[in-house]
Amino acid sequence: MRVGVLTGGGDCPGLNAVIRAIVRTGVAEYGYEFTGFRDGWRGPLEGDSMTLDVQAVRGILPRGGTILGTSRTNPLGEKSAAGGRSGLERVKDNLAQLGVDALVAIGGEDTLGVATRLHDGGVKVVGVPKTIDNDLSATDYTFGFDTAVNIAMEAIDRLHTTAESHHRALIVEVMGRHAGWIALHAGMAGGANVILIPEQPFDIEQVCGWVEHRFQTRYAPIVVVAEGALPKQGKEELTDQELDSFGHVRLGGIGQMLAGEIEKRLGKEARVAVLGHIQRGGTPTAFDRVLATRFGASAIRAVAEREFGKMVALRGTDIVRVPLTAATTELKTVPPERYAEAELFFG
Ligand code: F6P
Repeated sequence: MRVGVLTGGGDCPGLNAVIRAIVRTGVAEYGYEFTGFRDGWRGPLEGDSMTLDVQAVRGILPRGGTILGTSRTNPLGEKSAAGGRSGLERVKDNLAQLGVDALVAIGGEDTLGVATRLHDGGVKVVGVPKTIDNDLSATDYTFGFDTAVNIAMEAIDRLHTTAESHHRALIVEVMGRHAGWIALHAGMAGGANVILIPEQPFDIEQVCGWVEHRFQTRYAPIVVVAEGALPKQGKEELTDQELDSFGHVRLGGIGQMLAGEIEKRLGKEARVAVLGHIQRGGTPTAFDRVLATRFGASAIRAVAEREFGKMVALRGTDIVRVPLTAATTELKTVPPERYAEAELFFG
């Protein structure tokens, strides 16, 4: 059996650990051969592949990024090419031509959405969930999240000392388009003064009140804000209006807006640190390496057991298999009661 592997969407610490576990388990337990596809769905769409054997995955467990490369290419949005073949048909043609019998797709809701459509079209697919945002409802955790939270927490710790020294407010903008999990966990772990998330529109007056209180108590105000957070009656801050091939806008700028408001309303200096892709780069934590390794091993076992159209997921401490559609049906957002726990420490 020849199994194709691809990584799609934003990169995420732990992707290489998944690839390694798939190949090592597949070779050792089942004698499978592997084809790696480059740059997400662009690989099978254009027939761009590479050899993936045990030698190719040596030493990649601690490495961030993905040796396969990634992209946000969407075969569903591709115009028909020569011969009238749609994007999905071209993917199927290339899989057949390369002798790929089954495919493991590692990605978030967009990548797994395409995987679902391929499975409906008769391709043997197994999914592995991935996102630093931790917002896929079918799994308790996605790998990459723990690493992103630890990076953001360390940044907050460092910003605390400089904010204290200069008596200024520091705003830390973290990733999180629709879900505030990174902001919530990093903010709680880092002792933030205020945490702002997309699920809970904020009142700028109240935010300034919490910041002012922290100044009065002679302690540094640190505001952690998710890029998708929005003021009441406000709009998401967009850095540009460009959409990617899955229709997502690029966010960013909410931190700068908050700093401006704090300076204007309180007359205190406020600075912004936008963590951006630092949260996605570098080596995965032990938690993410273990989760990614367990996901990879379980995904190839799902192939061997012919459990196609499924995705591996973490439930409690167990790795389970759920329908691929479960990855894309509902976004896992921060429940109000979890936010309320953090709110106790605001101000
Ligand atoms: O989905 C993960 C994520 O990191 C989001 O939090 C963020 O909005 C987005 O990807 C940014 O994507 P990119 O860096 O590829 O533009």
